[in-house]
Amino acid sequence: MTENQIQSEMPKLGFGVFQVPNQADAKQAVINAVKTGYRLIDTAASYQNEIGVGEGIQSVIDAGLVTRDELFITTKLWVSDVTADRAADAIDKSLSKLKLDYLDLLLIHQPYNDIFAAWRAMEAAQKDGKVKHIGVSNFDNAQITNLMEFNEVKPAVNQIEVNPFFQNNQQVAFLQAEGIQVEAWAPFAEGRNHLFENPVLKAIGDAHNKSIGQVVLRWLVQRNIIPLAKSVRPSRMAENIDVLDFELNSDEMNQISKLDTNVSQFFDHANPEQIRRIASFKR
Ligand SMILES: NC(=O)c1ccc[n+]([C@@H]2O[C@H](COP(=O)([O-])OP(=O)(O)OC[C@H]3O[C@@H](n4cnc5c(N)ncnc54)[C@H](OP(=O)(O)O)[C@@H]3O)[C@@H](O)[C@H]2O)c1
Repeated sequence: MTENQIQSEMPKLGFGVFQVPNQADAKQAVINAVKTGYRLIDTAASYQNEIGVGEGIQSVIDAGLVTRDELFITTKLWVSDVTADRAADAIDKSLSKLKLDYLDLLLIHQPYNDIFAAWRAMEAAQKDGKVKHIGVSNFDNAQITNLMEFNEVKPAVNQIEVNPFFQNNQQVAFLQAEGIQVEAWAPFAEGRNHLFENPVLKAIGDAHNKSIGQVVLRWLVQRNIIPLAKSVRPSRMAENIDVLDFELNSDEMNQISKLDTNVSQFFDHANPEQIRRIASFKR
């Protein structure tokens, strides 16, 4: 596996703010998360909370809790901005809402619309110092290879769904062999399929005096996948970051591998109905 620069810069796990649409709540979530120890914050234009996230970042920097360079801030271009004439402006708008001079990571949120034009705008933003790293989200192996083969900059990250019920093994293996960092969205599958009551995960957690959530996040960290856990509750924020002091053995890792159903807990990105639904979502 090749090591790219971003892998040494990125925290081992991150904090996501999907479904925190209220700016005041997003601000408070970011403040609490940074106080808890998170340094990677994952937002997106479509989450409609970049203003609150920016206020939270400003607040923790002003309070002297962290410096800008200790934080790793990610946002994403929504599909309606993935065009030749809108991408550059959308990057500037996100920077302005987040009150930042630069982003650590900018992703194309979904593999639809004019991804080549957007990628070239992102390459230009990187050259201008507005973005340190550029990457993608929800791209399959063919889509990311197509992008890599015909552009100058290789995506640093692919943010994809990975959780115990959808382990995405083939894709993870491909991306890791390419030296592309994998980030896991919905590491808990948002609790679907009764994840937080799963008996296999519970028994493994009991053996380490850890919760089911901590077992899941540890399993991802041990696979060199960066989990993006979301919680608006400070007690769960603290629980979810406390996963670096124990190790799952190979038998436990194998037990978790067997939970894979190889079916997304959310949706199939290749389904035309799903693509139409995403295309119609205006941010
Ligand atoms: N690129 C993409 O297309 C994409 C898609 C989805 C998500 N994401 C990113 O990934 C992040 C995480 O995904 P997600 O928010 O969809 O789902 P998730 O992290 O799998 O699940 C979040 C849910 O689990 C609950 N929870 C969190 N920690 C818990 C714990 N220790 N015990 C019990 N329940 C717990 C949260 O509730 P409370 O908040 O009430 O604690 C929330 O309802 C997002 O915030 C976003 O940054 C990206």
